[in-house]
Amino acid sequence: MSIPKAELHLHIEGTLEPELAFALAERNGVTLPYASVDDLRAAQAFDDLQSFLDLYYACMAVLRTERDFEDLADAYLRRAAAQGVRHAEIFFDPQAHLSRGVGMGAVVDGLWRALSRSEETHGVSTRLIMCFLRDESAASAMETLELARPYLDRITGIGLDSAEVGHPPVKFREVYEAAAALGLRRVAHAGEEGPAAYITEALDVLGVERVDHGLRCMEDAALVERLVRERIPLTLCPLSNVRLRAVEALEEHPLPAMLDAGLMCTVNSDDPAYFGGYADDNFDAVRDHLGLGEDRLRELARNSFLASFLEDDEERRARYLAEVEAYEFPR
Ligand code: ADE
Ligand code: ZN
Repeated sequence: MSIPKAELHLHIEGTLEPELAFALAERNGVTLPYASVDDLRAAQAFDDLQSFLDLYYACMAVLRTERDFEDLADAYLRRAAAQGVRHAEIFFDPQAHLSRGVGMGAVVDGLWRALSRSEETHGVSTRLIMCFLRDESAASAMETLELARPYLDRITGIGLDSAEVGHPPVKFREVYEAAAALGLRRVAHAGEEGPAAYITEALDVLGVERVDHGLRCMEDAALVERLVRERIPLTLCPLSNVRLRAVEALEEHPLPAMLDAGLMCTVNSDDPAYFGGYADDNFDAVRDHLGLGEDRLRELARNSFLASFLEDDEERRARYLAEVEAYEFPR
C-alpha cells in the first residue's frame, strides 16, 4: 500500500541490514561477533529496548568511512522510495561514532552525499536530525553540539534517543536551550519505555515540537488532552513497539484509541533493519492487525506531512498533501 508519506522517526544506523553489515565489515577489515547473516538475524530477538541497543551499537562497528555512511543512507532511501516515502527526516547518532574514532565530518559528509542527490535519484526529499544519546552525559551532548557547528547548514534539528528510563529530559535542558538559540528544531524520544511524565517534561523543559513514540501518554488523560489541544505530533513505530515489547502484540497497540482521542499520530519504522519492516510494512501492519480503514490510513499519511519540518518549503508540503488526497487505494 504505497500511499505517499513522510518518515519522521528513522534512525539511519537502524537501517543497517545484515547483508550490508557483513559487506562493510569485509571492506573495512572489521570482525562482527556473528558468523553469518543468518546468525545476525537470529540475534534480533529482543526482550526490551536495552537488548536491542546492545546489538544496534555492536553492528555500528562496521561504519568507518564517509563512503560507508553514504552507502547506508543511499540503501535506505532506495528502500524508502519503494515504500511510498516522499520525504524523510533522518536521525543520526554522532556520539556512537565519535566514541569509536569516526569523526563528525565522515558521518555528516557521508550522509549528505546520499541525501543531497536523493530527490534526483530516489524522488525523496530529506532533512537531518542529530540525536544525543541520553545515557551519555549532558556535557558530552554539549560537546557534540559544538562539534556539529561547522555542519549546521545541513542539520535541521536535534533529538534525544538511547536508553530512556533513568535519563529524564531535564538532564538535557542546557543543550536544548543552546540548540534552540542556534535555530535548530527540537524533538525527543519520550514515553517509549519511560513514563508519561517524561513526555510532559520534554514539552515543558526541552520545548520539543514533536514527541518520538509518546506511546505512554495514554496513561495520563490530562496529557492526552494537552497533546490534542496543542496539536503535538507523535511519531509512533508500531513494529518497533512489538519487537521491543512496549506492547504485547500488534493487536494490543493503542494507535486506534490514540486516533479516536484526536491525537496527531504518524506511523514510522524506527530501525527497520532490526524490527522487520520499512514504512509501508508498518502501514500494512496497522491496516491488517488494527483494522484501520482508508480514512484513518489517509489521515496518518496526511499527518506525516503536516508534522514534517517543511516550513521552509510550504509549496512542497502542499504538493505532497495533494498527492495524499489524490491517492487511490488498490481494490
Ligand atoms: N535508538 C535507535 N532506536 C531507538 C529507540 N527505539 N528508542 C531509543 N533509542 C533508539
Ligand atoms: Zn527511535
